[in-house]
Amino acid sequence: RDLIFSGIQPTGKLHLGNYLGAIQNWVKLQEKYHEKSDIYFCIVDQHALTDKFKIDHQIFFEDTTKDNTIIMAAALLASGIDPKKSNIFVQSAVPYHAELQWMLGCIAPQNWLNTMTQYKDKKSKNSSLGLYSYPVLMAADILLYNATHVPVGSDQKQHLELTRDYATRFNMLFKNDKTQGIQMPQYIESEFPRVMSLKDGTKKMSKSDPSDFSRINLTDTPELVYDKIKKAKTDSIPIVKLDPNRPEVSNLLRIYSSLSGQSIKEIETTFSSSSMKDFKDKLSELIIAKVCPIGLRIEDLLQNQDYIYESLKQGNERAYDRAKENIQRIKKEMGMYVM
Ligand code: TYM
Repeated sequence: RDLIFSGIQPTGKLHLGNYLGAIQNWVKLQEKYHEKSDIYFCIVDQHALTDKFKIDHQIFFEDTTKDNTIIMAAALLASGIDPKKSNIFVQSAVPYHAELQWMLGCIAPQNWLNTMTQYKDKKSKNSSLGLYSYPVLMAADILLYNATHVPVGSDQKQHLELTRDYATRFNMLFKNDKTQGIQMPQYIESEFPRVMSLKDGTKKMSKSDPSDFSRINLTDTPELVYDKIKKAKTDSIPIVKLDPNRPEVSNLLRIYSSLSGQSIKEIETTFSSSSMKDFKDKLSELIIAKVCPIGLRIEDLLQNQDYIYESLKQGNERAYDRAKENIQRIKKEMGMYVM
């Protein structure tokens, strides 16, 4: 039986990049595959710690990881992840992720991590061990469940390749006719692998961009969405057309396409004689119709959190049981002591 696994950091600030790049895709995969696959979506609160603690500033940001975890769970539920079809769970509720991370960290050269571009972008002279070993924990997340398919945006592709390298290494060392070894996971590219910033079409839309006008948050009001799209960067060419030399307009077109389900060609035809302003107005309407209701549902779910806690409890228990079974087998195959 296939197992679809993906993860998302509880950042507290969910934006269109997370939604179109990941969550919308997860919902589609859930609807298509839940009968023949097990599905796990992990809220990676331990990964989020690497972003919260900026040793340079000697502070922990004020919002708590717990609150952000609950907000993320609400966002997943509000977006259509259904606990009857998928398991939503919290990384730190299953201690075996961190345990497997240790073992993977011991079976391959440390210098594998030095080539990780995300690390190279984020590191500073005071950055933490956690930031460095982040990709090993991600590999552990995936391999702990014997995942067969991992849907992620293109920014995570390198981490998935590393995960596959760890699986290969494990199997080279420990797989034989008596052992099962580790399942090799496949990358599933999301339909919209890279949603770009509204202010700069060469940068990805990100929660860490200092300008709130670079992104649409799921909880933005309709007025704010309208304002952000109105102020979104475009260029002096009035035509709505996909063009690699026009990254901002292309990004808006892709957002339109992803939310409406229409092809780029159809949209180009629809707007062939419209102004950029008309296109932007229609795009705002579309975002307001598709995304703002999710923001309202998130707020609704957060009013009375019972449903969120129940869903997580069920997901945590299922993930825990599966992970426990697998870690015991992995430890045995590695020749370790198992209670
Ligand atoms: P995270 O939390 O940064 O992002 C979650 C998912 O959203 C995608 N994404 C985007 N896609 C398109 N355009 C964007 N602007 C954009 N921003 C984010 C990401 O590619 C990702 O799929 N390390 C992972 C979380 C993780 C994980 C895992 C994923 C931890 N363990 C195991 C899969 C399997 C991360 O930080 O994603």
